[in-house]
Amino acid sequence: MAEELFVSTSTNKKERYEVLLPQIKALVEGESDLIANLANIAGALKQGMGFFWVGFYLVKDRQLVLGPFQGPIACTRIDFGKGVCGAAWKEEKTILVPDVEKFPGHIACSSAAKSEIVLPAFKGDKVALVLDIDSDLINDFDESDRQGLERVIKIIETALSTNLQ
Ligand code: SME
Repeated sequence: MAEELFVSTSTNKKERYEVLLPQIKALVEGESDLIANLANIAGALKQGMGFFWVGFYLVKDRQLVLGPFQGPIACTRIDFGKGVCGAAWKEEKTILVPDVEKFPGHIACSSAAKSEIVLPAFKGDKVALVLDIDSDLINDFDESDRQGLERVIKIIETALSTNLQ
């Protein structure tokens, strides 16, 4: 596997994703352990995109439980349907929140978080985990993030369908 991540100097987010995505794919293809892969994906997204907080919550019984992440410490458990993460799990779709104060039930793990995007990843027909990314700026996520991150989710779903855990 690559020992160093090549980070684009472009200010264009779409271009940054284009540089990052093949590297994420290569990282995951060489490793069969799910947690190791999620940890490196969180690191690659943090380093490559400069996000404030990036991490995973894994579905365990009827809760989301904190998994690998990069950034300040965070809430460890989120109930089904609660917060942006629980809503993305329940509704089984990506949720982009331009201003967290305007999202009813938003869970403020950090008072610095101002906007957020959460994407579910499926194993079979069930949500197995969510990717949660927070920004300390209002309205910091756009369609280029949705598209770039949905490609990350596809990589994860391929790994979920083949990994043992
Ligand atoms: N804000 C999230 C909780 C997780 S933290 O942002 C890391 C939510 O409302 O689900």
